[in-house]
Amino acid sequence: MKSKLAVFASGNGSNFEAIAQACEDGRIDAEVVLCVTDKPGAYVTQRAKKFGVPVLEFRPKDYPSKAAFETMLVDALSDKEVDLICLAGYMRIVGEVLLSAYENRIINIHPALLPAFKGAHAIKDAFEYGVKVYGVTIHYVDSSLDGGKIISQAAVPYEGNDIDELESLIHAQEHILYPSTIQKLLK
Ligand code: GRF
Repeated sequence: MKSKLAVFASGNGSNFEAIAQACEDGRIDAEVVLCVTDKPGAYVTQRAKKFGVPVLEFRPKDYPSKAAFETMLVDALSDKEVDLICLAGYMRIVGEVLLSAYENRIINIHPALLPAFKGAHAIKDAFEYGVKVYGVTIHYVDSSLDGGKIISQAAVPYEGNDIDELESLIHAQEHILYPSTIQKLLK
């Protein structure tokens, strides 16, 4: 039987789309069974609808604690029999409830060569630092920020001066590396 993926995103969802498209094309031998967002109405929800993927939207502030909304998420994920959670621009630190329910089954994509440039502004930080080789990292998620064991990385050499061009190059690499890494993990 095909593996079942959940993709968590807070915004644009271009990585969601790359994963969903790869599942549709057979480059990933799995199915995206749920799109989870903590930002109701985020653009990722439109992409999910296009692929016919059910969306779970929630507002963290409607819950008394992170443990409370993660308990709701674990229930939804187990209803869908999710095997692997792929964070793709999910702008929250994962808490103990989700981590212990899905130990070693939560992965994230980060737009830098970790452990350099952790955090939410990795591309801008690396650009301002003046690095010449940028990149993308896929890693397991633990309770630290961008800190879990590295699964795969790809370099993006860039010596130009245009951050928009750089961002496009990094995102293009993300859309290749995330699907291929997921497929390798599922084997
Ligand atoms: C990506 O750059 C990813 O590496 C980071 O957040 C961004 C999400 O982009 N964690 P998108 O929503 O998938 O377009």
